[in-house]
Amino acid sequence: MRVDIVTIFPEMFSAFLDTGVLGRAVRGGILQVAVHDLRDYSDAPHRSVDDEPYGGGGGMLMTAPPWIAAVRSISRGATPHRVLLTPQGHRLDSHKVADLARMPHLVFLCGRYEGIDERVGETVVDEEISIGDYVLSGGETAAMVVVDAVSRELPGVVGLPSSVERESFRNGLLDFPQYTRPSVVEGLAVPEVLLSGHHEEIEKWRRVQALQRTQEKRPDLIVGDEVQSECASCTHVEEEK
Ligand code: 6GU
Repeated sequence: MRVDIVTIFPEMFSAFLDTGVLGRAVRGGILQVAVHDLRDYSDAPHRSVDDEPYGGGGGMLMTAPPWIAAVRSISRGATPHRVLLTPQGHRLDSHKVADLARMPHLVFLCGRYEGIDERVGETVVDEEISIGDYVLSGGETAAMVVVDAVSRELPGVVGLPSSVERESFRNGLLDFPQYTRPSVVEGLAVPEVLLSGHHEEIEKWRRVQALQRTQEKRPDLIVGDEVQSECASCTHVEEEK
């Protein structure tokens, strides 16, 4: 997958793209990322990319021409899916992440200041995305969240093929509890079944734990009829004990 990021703070992305699972994906060529400095596309004095809003009020707005020039330049000979990160966008969830992961080429526009001239969205943006109902200082951290989540869906990025499938939300449930050495921490022992070596029992226990946790902490995630009845019966099993 090819990813282009447009920002006035390109340096924010270097550690992010060099580190961990993502760093390995970039070095291995699964993910080709280019970070572009919006100011390189400014024709204004001092490479300025902001101005006062027409109609007055508050702070500064990002001007449209540098964004349009940057996105057009990146898109030359390509037809990328262009995403503007903004609190006004559609809220990111696992379905949106999966949709984005199917795109061969993504461009992320990271807004700053009080916002961006409306005409950017009308000319060089296919979709607006928000990562949640709160305001960030800029789209950069949001773009990192999206790139991190999307890259995990690409074949070969996450170590074991089974691990992505097993994760929270992919199977529609929260993770089951996990433990490693030491076997007792502050008087809290590891659940007996995990030490038993009975793989079938362990799988059953994990499934029940995942269902119960989801029911308790995120009942909104339990939507399908099948999971709903499985959940009802696993609560029942627990009550019998
Ligand atoms: Cl994508 N950008 C900004 N500035 N704030 C946000 C956001 C994005 N998503 C949630 N809050």
